[in-house]
Amino acid sequence: MIFSKIIGTGHYLPSRMVSNEELSRTLDTSDEWISSRTGIRQRHIAAADESSVDLAQRAAERALAAAGLQGSDLDLIIVATSTPEHIFPSDASQLQQRLGCRPIPAFDMQAACSGFIYGLVTADNFIRAGSCQRVLLVGCDVFSHILNWQDRNTAVLFGDGAGAVVLGASPTPGILSSVIYSDGQYCNLLQVPLNVGTAENQRSQRQPYVEMSGSEVFRRAVSALADLVTELLAKAELRPEQLDFLVPHQANARIITATAKHLNLPLEKVIMTVAEHANTSAASVPLALDVGIRRGQIQPGHRLLLEAFGAGFTWGGCVVQY
Ligand code: UT7
Repeated sequence: MIFSKIIGTGHYLPSRMVSNEELSRTLDTSDEWISSRTGIRQRHIAAADESSVDLAQRAAERALAAAGLQGSDLDLIIVATSTPEHIFPSDASQLQQRLGCRPIPAFDMQAACSGFIYGLVTADNFIRAGSCQRVLLVGCDVFSHILNWQDRNTAVLFGDGAGAVVLGASPTPGILSSVIYSDGQYCNLLQVPLNVGTAENQRSQRQPYVEMSGSEVFRRAVSALADLVTELLAKAELRPEQLDFLVPHQANARIITATAKHLNLPLEKVIMTVAEHANTSAASVPLALDVGIRRGQIQPGHRLLLEAFGAGFTWGGCVVQY
């Protein structure tokens, strides 16, 4: 049997940091409101000429270095993003060129904040099917380009960043269980309408912005994630206390705490980066994973539960043996 294993990780954050206090100078908000409701204290914001491909490249180079590989060693590139540099070509094809890869399959995957988890399940399937040995998976987003900076309901919640993993074929399992879902009946609760596929786009000069019914998304996220983690552990035949770390999507510290509480996990077993990075959408889980590894918290052999919830709604997770 062939399995897939994470053999290298990396992340990249743009150099500019924006604090809650800085946002409160132009928005009717406060550090007190943002930090108490979300846990966010600051976020990194890309430069005007910095795209998701630029962020992805830096994260990918670090993940390849950690795996001891070069771009030419890769068999497949998947980039999870909702903010690609272009409608086409994909971020993945651009990244392939920048990393000096051979002609190999490369494609973007769009499942909003759950994109990295969707990518992980896809990469795992490619490797287990025997069609690839080494896969680069990047989650990257530049939400600062699609935020309405006058809307306090959304502008304070997001940051920019990229996280990457390299997966390699392995005789022992690295992904112990995985589950992904979508429920399109909730499409309009969290969206960036663009209408590029309709004639309306030709007439409208409207900028696409994130629109969210925050409290409704919050409620559904907490409940879906509770069911999800229970299902993931049952599939992996593990009890919560057998997990070393929860590596959750970093949208809101209160959602993360609710999931940890459902699992009865102490907060020392939760990788939390939401305070420093805010919600980086598809980058959030691989970014937190790499931070946990580079801080020395996550060690080889540890069992991790990765999960995410986002627009669609989409949600999903994997139990990983690192
Ligand atoms: O990654 C994709 C998934 N996304 C998420 O998981 C986000 C889920 N949602 C959330 O994290 C939370 O719902 C929010 C952080 C967005 C909002 O927190 P909340 O506790 O649900 O607040 P709320 O939406 O019920 O709003 C409470 C009040 C409102 O004022 P009124 O109507 O009670 O007078 C808002 O207008 O807080 C107000 N408010 C703000 N006040 C100061 C909303 N945003 C702000 C703000 N500063 N930035």
